[in-house]
Amino acid sequence: MLTNLWYVAEWSNAVKDKPVKAKLLGQNFVLYRDKAGKVHCLSDVCIHRGGSLSNGWTTERNCVACPYHGWEFDSEGKVQFIPSRGEGAPIPERARIDAYPTEERYGMIWVFMGDLPESERYPIPEFPEYDDRDNWRPVSLDFTWKGTVDRVVENGIDIAHTSFVHPGFGYPEMADKNKIIDVEKGEYWGRSSNVLHPPQLQGNFGLMKFFRKDKQPTYVTPSFYLPGHCVRLHIKVNSWMDMVIFDANTPVDENTTRSFAIQVRNFFKYPMFDGGAIKRTRNVFQQDADIVEALSPNYLPETLENEVSVEQDKFMGAWRQIRRKHIEMGWKIDTRAMKAYEGEKVFTIPSPARRTNPDLKWALDTVPMIGGKSDLIPTRSVEGGISNTQKQAETA
Ligand code: FES
Ligand SMILES: [Fe+2]
Repeated sequence: MLTNLWYVAEWSNAVKDKPVKAKLLGQNFVLYRDKAGKVHCLSDVCIHRGGSLSNGWTTERNCVACPYHGWEFDSEGKVQFIPSRGEGAPIPERARIDAYPTEERYGMIWVFMGDLPESERYPIPEFPEYDDRDNWRPVSLDFTWKGTVDRVVENGIDIAHTSFVHPGFGYPEMADKNKIIDVEKGEYWGRSSNVLHPPQLQGNFGLMKFFRKDKQPTYVTPSFYLPGHCVRLHIKVNSWMDMVIFDANTPVDENTTRSFAIQVRNFFKYPMFDGGAIKRTRNVFQQDADIVEALSPNYLPETLENEVSVEQDKFMGAWRQIRRKHIEMGWKIDTRAMKAYEGEKVFTIPSPARRTNPDLKWALDTVPMIGGKSDLIPTRSVEGGISNTQKQAETA
């Protein structure tokens, strides 16, 4: 699981006037709205005696109150009020928890899980169709996988599996006709253009058969973005029918992923077609989950020596390569090092204020990082663990 990225914590409409718990990267957070409607994200651990702020309430001071002794935390994580502190006593400087930057886009609450300053953060991926209601009709769905986020993203951009896993999108006997036309990639994203030959599309009361013939070449463009671990799949059904599935894939913990998915279509835009669109998209997620949840190993191998890759896997190679580069930059949480402390010690994801207040003695330790610094355990190095075979496979 990688830090220093934006992730989606919740749907916007799920956070109203009460604090809401969100779990990301194996840690608990609280989301709450202030009186102006701005959403905030704090660590869910009260540094007094460990109360869970998400079980508390929002206050007149625009704070979230801990349900145990009523300490109130503001949007920067600083304690503003301690009912039991003793008359006139000051609030200790260390009475502070981590607060994380938030943004609301596409009906989702995005939180920045790391300590990078604003200028160094990769942006939230663009999804221009979402706001263009004249031309696109959106539907959304929420899907939880018992699988690791890296496998989920890799599945989302994998073209070769469609012929076998999704009867609506591919024929096994046409699998060798599918082709990657082009792969592009940047520092934190990748995109590939593909031609597929899917069977007759079903649905929309049988109308689809008039618009695309059986096995007609169809252009499919999957993209991935490290921020949000987003996958964007653009399907050109024919010259005037397009559909985009945009999903942000949040690592809840090492083996649980929550997908916040929105499908937009530029055809049959009446609400009466929404139910069918949701049902078909959910079916596709379920078909994928049946495969992904049974993969061995269930996490993405750090080395490709035990796997064999071919031509149609090269876009997945781009994803693995970009992901690995960021592991080498020290962005991956060392969950194995944390296991030794399970139930005894609480860790938090470092927030931007830790960099701007280096002298402050924060009450909680931050999560240990692979290839990064840890005060607790000498961390495993990724150097030397990556062979030439893997490098070749990833750059293939
Ligand atoms: S544990 Fe939160 S106020 Fe005491
Ligand atoms: Fe799939």
